[in-house]
Amino acid sequence: MTAQVEAVNGVSPNGSNAPSGPPAIRVEDLSTGYHEEPVLQHVDLSVAAGSLVGLIGPNGSGKSTLFKTMTGLHEPWTGRVLINGKPGKPGADVAYVPQTETVDWSFPVTAGQVVMMGRYPRLGLIRWPRKRDHEIVDRSLEKVGMSGFKDRQIGQLSGGQRQRVFLARALAQEPSILLLDEPVSGVDATTQHQIFELLDQLCEEGVTTIVASHDLSCVAQRFDQVLLLNRTVHGYGPPDEVLTQDLLNKTFQSHLLLLRLGTRTFVVEDPDHFQHD
Ligand SMILES: Nc1ncnc2c1ncn2[C@@H]1O[C@H](COP(=O)(O)OP(=O)(O)OP(=O)(O)O)[C@@H](O)[C@H]1O
Ligand SMILES: [Mg+2]
Repeated sequence: MTAQVEAVNGVSPNGSNAPSGPPAIRVEDLSTGYHEEPVLQHVDLSVAAGSLVGLIGPNGSGKSTLFKTMTGLHEPWTGRVLINGKPGKPGADVAYVPQTETVDWSFPVTAGQVVMMGRYPRLGLIRWPRKRDHEIVDRSLEKVGMSGFKDRQIGQLSGGQRQRVFLARALAQEPSILLLDEPVSGVDATTQHQIFELLDQLCEEGVTTIVASHDLSCVAQRFDQVLLLNRTVHGYGPPDEVLTQDLLNKTFQSHLLLLRLGTRTFVVEDPDHFQHD
């Protein structure tokens, strides 16, 4: 993969080829939270276009809050987020698949109609889907292996199938930036593999993708950049540079064991640590 990264915080930049345009996402000294309770503090980050980033951190570390702030759903207290060099609402450039959808599952809407919602930000003045929009919906469903479920009511799909439909809705938006909050939790291993193949393909097409995940070994192996977040950025860069014992301990504030087998890296809980506590 060819993505380059400028790390503002944490691990040093992978500066071999400086990106020519502005970074796809730039977060400058961002602090925010809820009801005067801070969650993110002094987050600085610069993600080059076409990066495939794994976002990791413990529960409550601010991963979803960071996504919501990047999409304009949550306001910064201080600092700012620039999308493709521009401040303000990100619009159709950013597609976001939240960790949990607040959906009325009894609402009579089909999988195909849900995916068409991804086209709404791109519909012209007439605001009516055209042939091309229908083709994009079909292609998006196909990419997530859900073509056969196009006319199925969303409430009649399994949890993993619904997740794939929401991913298809994000793809239908044709975003330049894709933010996925734990997209493979609850998805079977074969589908998980297909989704990662799809993310690799999107990355090659220049789409910048950030995926929040608790599967640290998967992040170590499948992503070209890793972002360690716990209230602030503890590291950002290629897995080999960022997934160190020291940075993992700082981020997770617990003992995780880093195992390197050949070229592969695995991260596992340290059972001895729990026995001795
Ligand atoms: N709407 C909200 N109102 C008040 N507090 C919130 C709200 N959403 C999140 N929080 C709090 O903000 C903190 C960060 O939450 P966030 O959802 O960003 O964490 P996360 O890293 O995504 O966690 P997880 O791995 O469990 O998904 C937590 O302490 C959480 O309780
Ligand atoms: Mg979350």
